[in-house]
Amino acid sequence: MRKLSPEYYLSKEVDENWHELQGMGFLREESRDPILAEFQTLISSTQQGMIYVVSEEILVEFENKTYPTVDTNFYVKGDIPPLFFAQPCKNPLKDRPKIQKEFPDALITEKGYARVFVAYRYPAHLPEGFLYSTFGLAKEIILQWQKMPPQKVLSSFEVSISRKSRIGSVADSAVVSNIEELINLVREGIDILSFYLYFVVHANNKQELQQKSVDLQHTLKSYGIEIECPRFFQSRLYNFEVRFSFSGFNLFSIKKTIADARSMRALFPFIKENFVDDGGVFLGFSGTGDPIVFNPYKRHNYLMLILGETGSGKSMSSKIYLRRLHEKRSIPIYGIDPESEYAPLANYFGSTSVQLKENAPLGLDPIRMNLDRVMVAEILSEVYSIPPQLRPRLRKELFSTTSENMFDFIEKSDKDMKKYLEPILSPPDYYIFSGSPPNTSKPIIFGLRGLRSDHLKILTTSLISVYLGQEMRQSVVFVDEGWLFIRTPRIMHVFENIARRGRKHGLHFIFITQRVEDVASTPEGRTLLEQAATALLLRQEKEGVDAIKNIYKLSDGEMQSLVNASPGEGLLKAENMKISIRVVATSEELRTFSTTPLIAEG
Ligand SMILES: Nc1ncnc2c1ncn2[C@@H]1O[C@H](COP(=O)(O)OP(=O)(O)OP(=O)(O)O)[C@@H](O)[C@H]1O
Ligand SMILES: [Mg+2]
Repeated sequence: MRKLSPEYYLSKEVDENWHELQGMGFLREESRDPILAEFQTLISSTQQGMIYVVSEEILVEFENKTYPTVDTNFYVKGDIPPLFFAQPCKNPLKDRPKIQKEFPDALITEKGYARVFVAYRYPAHLPEGFLYSTFGLAKEIILQWQKMPPQKVLSSFEVSISRKSRIGSVADSAVVSNIEELINLVREGIDILSFYLYFVVHANNKQELQQKSVDLQHTLKSYGIEIECPRFFQSRLYNFEVRFSFSGFNLFSIKKTIADARSMRALFPFIKENFVDDGGVFLGFSGTGDPIVFNPYKRHNYLMLILGETGSGKSMSSKIYLRRLHEKRSIPIYGIDPESEYAPLANYFGSTSVQLKENAPLGLDPIRMNLDRVMVAEILSEVYSIPPQLRPRLRKELFSTTSENMFDFIEKSDKDMKKYLEPILSPPDYYIFSGSPPNTSKPIIFGLRGLRSDHLKILTTSLISVYLGQEMRQSVVFVDEGWLFIRTPRIMHVFENIARRGRKHGLHFIFITQRVEDVASTPEGRTLLEQAATALLLRQEKEGVDAIKNIYKLSDGEMQSLVNASPGEGLLKAENMKISIRVVATSEELRTFSTTPLIAEG
C-alpha cells in the first residue's frame, strides 16, 4: 500500500509533462459522448503520450473495523490540454518498486512478484470503458501512443494493400478493407496512432501471480482482447524501455497496434466508482457500501460546499470532517460560527475560540488591523448604507487618513459622512471596533451567537473574513449558516475571493448553508456554488431542489433521493465524481456533536 505524506499534495513540486487526472463515475448515457470526445482530443493533442493507471489496495479503518477497497489514480504524460481537471504532478513512475530478479516470464520486485502483459489482438468493436474491469487485477495499466504523420500512413498503407491484394485470401481481403477504411479516415483528417497497451500484474507470491494472470487473461478475452506475456522482455517492458518506430524493426518483436483516434475512445480509462483519496479522511459509506475517503487537496480547487435544509446534518457532517481533518494533519482551522455550535468544541478541531458578545470589546478596528482599504470601504458602505455618491470619497479618505483608529477617523470626517458612520461611535457597534484585535496567529473559531442582530453578525463576519483573506495562510476556514450573508454581496465577494485564491495558498474554504436557491439567486452566491470543486449535498427542500438540480446536473432520481434523505445522507460531488454518501459519526461524535438532545442513551 502506498502512503504519501499529506504534504505531498500541498507541495508545489511537479514534473514537466506529467498530469494527474480525476476519474469519474461510469459514463452515463447523457454525458458519455462529450466525455469520450474529450478523451479523443486528449489523445490527439499530443505527438506522443502515455497514460498510466495505477490501482492500490487500501484498507480503511473505522471504529476497529477494516474495510478493504481499491483506489485508482490516473496520470498522463505528454503535452495535453487542461481536460478532466488535469493538474501538474510529480512523475508517478519514480516510486515504482525496483526489479530485484528477472525470470523469463516474471519479475521479483522490492514489493513482491510482477508480470507484464502486452495486448496484441483487438476485436473490431470494444465497449467503451472496458478497462475498468481490469483495475483490480492489473495494478498498473499503461497506454503509450504516438501520432503517425499522415503522409507516412498513406504510403505505408498503400504498400500493404497492394501486397495483401496480391496474396488474396479471405482473411487478407478483410484486412484490406480495414486498411481502406483507415485511409479514408486519414483523408478526413482523423489522426492515426500507433499504440501499445500493457498491463502489470503485481502479487505477493507466485500462486497469486498465477491466479491474477489467468483472471486478467480471461477478463480481457471476454472482450475479444488477447494478451501475451513476452518472455525475456519482462524487465525492459516493466521499465518502459519500448521505443516507437515507424519503419524498420521495433526495438523488440512486440507488435504495436495501429488505430484511428476515434477508435481509441474505447480505451477510455478514467473511471472511478468508489471514492478513496490517498491521504484523505474517512467520511462514511457510499450506496454500494464502499468506504468514502476524501482529500480536499486532491481537487482542482479547495472550495467545499455543504448544502442542505435545516436538520439535514450539515453542521454534524462538517464537525466530523473538521475533527478528522485535524487529526490527520494539523492544519489550523478557523471558523465563522453564527450559532456558536463549534466554538465550545474548538479543542476537537485543534482551535481556540472567541465567543463574541455585544457589550465586550472585539478589537476589529479595520484601521488598526490594517485591512485592505478598498474592501473596508465597500463593506462599511454596504453595512451602513452609505449612498453611492459618497462611496468614492469614503474610499479615498480611508486611503489617505492619518487617523490611527476608526473612532478618530469618524470624528475627523465631515458631517455628511459622519451621519452614516456615527452608529460606530456608540454601542453595540462601538464594541466591535474597540479593544485590542484578536490574535489570529493561533487558529480561532468565532462564535457569533452572542451577537443577537444580523447587522452585528454581518459586520463582524466581514471584518474577520477580510482579515483571514488578507493573511491567506495554509489553513482551513469554514463559514456555517452561510445564507445569513447572501444579502451582503461584499461579504460573499470576500468569501468568493478567499475560495478562488485558496488553492495557491493551501487554504481550504468550507461554506455551509441552507436555502441554496437564495444563495443561487445572487451573482456572488451563484459563483461560489458553481466554482466549488466539492459539494456535499444533503437533504433538500422540495421547493428549492431545482437550483441544485441545475447547478449540479442531477437526474430526477438523484433529486428524489435528496428530498427523501435522512440526516447525514446525500450526494458527494467532487469534480466529475458523484457518489451517494452516508456520513458516519462514531457514537462519541454523535454524542458530542449533536445539537438535538438524544432521547435515550445506552
Ligand atoms: N451523520 C449523522 N448521523 C446520525 N445523525 C445525524 C447525522 N447528522 C446529523 N444527525 C442528527 O441530526 C441533527 C441535526 O443535524 P445538524 O445540526 O448537523 O443539522 P444542520 O443541517 O446543521 O441544521 P441547521 O441548518 O438547522 O443548522 C444532529 O444533531 C444529529 O442528531
Ligand atoms: Mg447547522
